[in-house]
This record gives sequence, C-alpha cells and structure tokens, in this order.
Amino acid sequence: MTTWPVHGRIAGPIVMIGFGSIGRGTLPLIERHLEFDRDRLVVIDPVDTDRALLDERGIRFVQDSVTRENYRDLLAPMLTAGGGQGFCVNLSVDTSSVDIMEFCRELGALYIDTVNEPWKGFYFDASKGPEARSNYALRETTLAARLRNPGGPTAVSCCGANPGMVSWLVKQALVDVAGALGIEHAEPASREEWAALMSRVGVQGIHIAERDTQRAKTPKPRGVFVNTWSVEGFVSEGLQPAELGWGTFEPWMPQNARTHAAGCGAAIYLLQAGANTRVRSWTPTARAQYGFLVTHNESISIADYFTVRDASGRATYRPTCHYAYHPCDDAVLSLHEMFGQAGAMQPSWHILDEDEIVDGVDELGVLLYGHGRNAYWYGSQLSVEETRRIAPYQNATGLQVTSAVLAGMVWALENPEAGIVEADEMDYRRCLEIQRPYLGPVVGEYTDWTPLAGRPGLFPEDIDAEVPWAFRNTLVR
Ligand SMILES: NC(=O)c1ccc[n+]([C@@H]2O[C@H](COP(=O)([O-])OP(=O)(O)OC[C@H]3O[C@@H](n4cnc5c(N)ncnc54)[C@H](O)[C@@H]3O)[C@@H](O)[C@H]2O)c1
Repeated sequence: MTTWPVHGRIAGPIVMIGFGSIGRGTLPLIERHLEFDRDRLVVIDPVDTDRALLDERGIRFVQDSVTRENYRDLLAPMLTAGGGQGFCVNLSVDTSSVDIMEFCRELGALYIDTVNEPWKGFYFDASKGPEARSNYALRETTLAARLRNPGGPTAVSCCGANPGMVSWLVKQALVDVAGALGIEHAEPASREEWAALMSRVGVQGIHIAERDTQRAKTPKPRGVFVNTWSVEGFVSEGLQPAELGWGTFEPWMPQNARTHAAGCGAAIYLLQAGANTRVRSWTPTARAQYGFLVTHNESISIADYFTVRDASGRATYRPTCHYAYHPCDDAVLSLHEMFGQAGAMQPSWHILDEDEIVDGVDELGVLLYGHGRNAYWYGSQLSVEETRRIAPYQNATGLQVTSAVLAGMVWALENPEAGIVEADEMDYRRCLEIQRPYLGPVVGEYTDWTPLAGRPGLFPEDIDAEVPWAFRNTLVR
C-alpha cells in the first residue's frame, strides 16, 4: 500500500461548498494528505447526486444552496463548531467568492476557491453591460476587499489549475528560459523582481495553452453540452466577454476592444463572447491549433503581476496574457451547437467521468513567447489512464485542478496570516512540489512556431509581418 505524505493539519472544522466534479475529486486528496477531524467535515450542495461517497465515509452532508440571503447564518456555526481554525473550501458555482471569503476572514477561518465566482444571476444579466460582466470587474472586487482589510486570515483566491497552477508554471518557465538564454539572475524575491526578470528575458506574452484530448466512449448526443469539468462553469465564463492581459508591445488593438477606465489597467475586453473567439496557439501534442480565448482570472492577474511601472505609475512593460483553450472534442462540438443557437445553452448537459472516457490527455501549460528562443511551452501532460491509477473519482482535467486545491490548502496552512492572495503571490516551488505527483509528465519544449507559420495561405490576410506574436496575428478574424 502507498503511504501518502501528510502535509499539514486542519485544527478546526472543514466546510466544503459544492460537491460536483471538483469537490468529489478534492475530497480523497484532503483525506490522503491532511489531518483533520472527520466529524467536523461538512459538505453543502443543493444536489445529492454523489451523496453515497459521503455516506460511506460518515461525512455530514447538508443539501442546501448557499445564497446571498443565507450564507452568514448557514456557514457561521459550521465554520466555528468545536473550536480551532476552520477552513472553507469553495468548489461551487453561483456563490460569491468575495462575500464568502470576507465572511470567513471575519470568523478567522481560512478560505480557498478556484474561480472568482459571483452570486447566481450575474453571468446572464443582460442589463449589465459586457464590462460589468467581465472577470476584470470581478477581480477588482477582490482587490478592493484586500485593500479594505489587508493581512489577516489567509484567503486564497482562484487556486485551481487555471486560474491557479499555471501562475506557478509561469515562474518555473521564466526561470527555465532565463537559464537557456544565459541571463544571470538571482531568484526573484518580490513581485517587482519577477516583473523585472520577465522584462529582461524579453517575454512578449503568455498563452495558457491547453489541449484536452480526452475522448468519450459514447458519441455526444445532439442537444447535450458535454465537457470534462463543470458545464455550468464553462458556459458561464464562455459567455463573458473575451478578455486578455494587454501587453505593452502590442502595436494594434481590435476595433471592438475596450479598455477599463478604473482599476489595475492590465487587461482589455472584446465585445464578443470568449468561447466564440478563436486564437492561434501551440502545445506539444497539437503543435499548431485553434484555442478559445475564454476569459480567466489568470489572464489578468499574471499580466498585472508582471507589470513594470515607472515612478509615475505608468506601465513600461507588461506581457500579453490569455487563455488559448482547446477543450475536449465533445466540448468543441457543444460550443459549436450552442453558438449556432445564438448562445442558448442546450437543454441538458453532461460531465464525463473517468469511466466514460476511452483515452486522452489534458495537456495544460504556459507558452512564453517572443523572447530570444522564440517560444517555450511548459506544463502538465496528464492522461486519464494515469489519473485512474493515482486518484479516485476524477478525470485528468479534474486532477490538475484538485491537486492545485490541495497545494493551495497546504500553503494556506503554512501561511495562515497572509490575507487575500492570488496564486501569483504564493511560493511556486512549494506549491508545485505538493502538486507534482498528480501532474503526470511535466515537460518543457521550445518551438520555432509563430502565429504567422504558413501564412498567408491561399487568400490575402491582414497580418503584421514585423511582429510575429502580435495579437493581430494570434486572433482569428
Ligand atoms: N481554476 C480551475 O482550474 C477550475 C477548473 C475546473 C473548475 N473550476 C471551478 O470550480 C467550480 C466547481 O467546478 P465543478 O467542475 O466541480 O462544477 P460542477 O458543475 O460539477 O459542480 C458544481 C457544484 O456546485 C453546486 N452548487 C450550485 N449552486 C450552489 C450553491 N448555491 N451552493 C452550494 N453549491 C452549489 C452544484 O450543485 C454542483 O454540484 C466551478 O466554479 C468551476 O468554474 C475551476
């Protein structure tokens, strides 16, 4: 029998909000790697599909929705029962990350989530304009909460695979490229030093470049949205505007791009849905591919983190940063079907579990481009076969997320007074060390591919021949 390393101890109660594909996969990792009082673990979810997993372990289940109206009354007794510092693990949809994290900090409890989630209704509120529905706006509410109340009990914001792990991969990839280019440097010790190194290495931008090749045993039926993780989560973010951290090197902006008047200023958004916006990108398996420019917290937080400013506060260097996501083929078909119906979601949906998948790999990494070695992809190539061997109740996509949640929880236990933090601000070496056993092969590969490869082809194209990595060339128009 394998002996798993125990990374820490949770002294108080644990409250897990949401027991969907990620909650189900996170539970066994918490059981393996953390000491805690099993009688004080509570799971809350309005749906009881996987209740048997909890019943067989004797874990308390509360079948309820966490709402704006009830969250204080519902969570306070659960997070304080029996004393000791509680830990709230928010893995749900439709619950406000900021409200819940602020309340946990009031109670003195630790907190983690994998997405900056709003209360139900936000994503599909047509009365809000695209800017108000952006991740930029959501992230600014988290930054404001931090400003209002700096320090104090640790709340880790957006710590899954992406957002989350990819911020740690960016730092490792940057150190690798600096080494390959012979750029002498000490390990950066602050945000400013990391940004300075990114600038010195000459990185123009970063794709969160993912290819999910997991294939279902049964072909996707018409009228069903199929995915390898939350369909509700994917559709919600997919219908937000396309958003990207906006690099200082970019010579051109699309006509329907908009900037933000307030806030950190690190990102722009387009007046079109992210999941209906394609970009050219590259992963080791796909080589060149189309990915969707779905908005994500990390596109903004990474660009913000690596911004160099002059004395007046003006940004003198910032990398472009965005997601380039090729989800599993069934999800690509699902998006095609959904946008064919003007973005109206199919009447039903399905998340593929590990037993419904024939084979495939979730290849998730970061592509640092525009530097002296052109481009470098660094990331995890986790197969569903390996996933089945090493952790129960999840597919490869899930394990990349749940192992990042575990790493974030351990980091919070080791740094319990860090205040509200994003993955960019955590110790990437420590977090990757915890996560690594669950990532399959972690590889780095250089490529000479650029978004101009093979172009123009049979038709004239509006390209920027001088700046191969310009967004003008990456964006499919
Ligand atoms: N950062 C990442 O890498 C990453 C990756 C995958 C998923 N996620 C996020 O993690 C979250 C969970 O993903 P998933 O794949 O498990 O989703 P899922 O759809 O499988 O599960 C979500 C669960 O939340 C429950 N829920 C809905 N409303 C609730 C409420 N008001 N209170 C409590 N529970 C509620 C649902 O019943 C469901 O069981 C989503 O927000 C998703 O966007 C992040």
